[in-house]
Amino acid sequence: MNPLQVTIVGAGTVGGNTASILLSEAENIAARSGRRIELRAIASRDFDVAERLGLPSSLYTTDTDAAITDPETDVVVELIGGIHPAKEIITTALQAGKHVVTANKALLAYHGHELMGIARENGVALAFEASCAGGVPIIRILTQAMLGEQIDAIYGILNGTCNYILSQMGSSSYDEALAQAQELGLAEADPTLDVSGEDTAHKIAIMSTLAFGVRIPMESIQTIGIDSLDPADIRYAKRLGYVVKLLAMAQQTTEGPHVMVSPAFIPKEHPLARVDNAFNAISLYSNNLGHTLHYGRGAGGRPTASAVVSDIISLGAGTYTTAFAGSHIWADQAEPLQVLPQSMMEFR
Ligand code: HSE
Repeated sequence: MNPLQVTIVGAGTVGGNTASILLSEAENIAARSGRRIELRAIASRDFDVAERLGLPSSLYTTDTDAAITDPETDVVVELIGGIHPAKEIITTALQAGKHVVTANKALLAYHGHELMGIARENGVALAFEASCAGGVPIIRILTQAMLGEQIDAIYGILNGTCNYILSQMGSSSYDEALAQAQELGLAEADPTLDVSGEDTAHKIAIMSTLAFGVRIPMESIQTIGIDSLDPADIRYAKRLGYVVKLLAMAQQTTEGPHVMVSPAFIPKEHPLARVDNAFNAISLYSNNLGHTLHYGRGAGGRPTASAVVSDIISLGAGTYTTAFAGSHIWADQAEPLQVLPQSMMEFR
């Protein structure tokens, strides 16, 4: 079989690490997937991270348009983040018949339905495992492994930066902990997205759309971040036997789904209370299976790149499928969400 030809757009922490894994683990990847994956080009405006990681400069290009429409390219990997120009890049690539892999949660939360529709019209895949919870394979769990389940509730710690800050706040100040999260490559380019809860809202919008089968518009998600917290809140919580976490909560109710993001007091014996630093965890409740907990590294270059690489390999091996419920829902439906009063939410 011909090698799968891949072009990466965006050479930041995740783009650089994705390229590094594809190049340094090429033999193992070919052995595992039965097909070689060839990195054709890395398109970016700057190559600082790529140079730091020792990626070959022969792959660098600043001509993104040419790179994404290159007839030899099979898969375009969008890792620049944000809405524009990521949306235009993905649209062009899909319309040119390329499969697209992305980690872009903000773009999918706002425009996933349009982009999924374009992918379906062009008979190609839009893969997005890395968009939620980094290396935790929660998209596959929701769209494949647990398709037999009716999900009633999702509780998630979905932002590594906020969880890192909250975990460190006993020993460091908020500002010091945020600076450390930035140094560790956890935070968004604009860390306001992390601490305001918006990044968590992007992720729970995607996950609850997939879980509940209705599109959850971003505007309907009540969002409170950790920037509203006072260190005293954390001290009092501890004294009372609780741990403060930024929690995404999505519940199916008789009135329709309700989704929100807020700092929450979690009893210290609850498994989510023990999720520290950049780790993420997602607690799912479903009809036949009951409770399942999914835990792992949710941010940072290598864990997120791992999820991107797994999507690329699935596309190369022909095991990636667009035939899951989520792609259909995103492409064809636009149901409004019933917003319920917060008092109807229950924490389990
Ligand atoms: N800034 C995000 C986080 C990166 O801290 O979780 C992973 O989406």
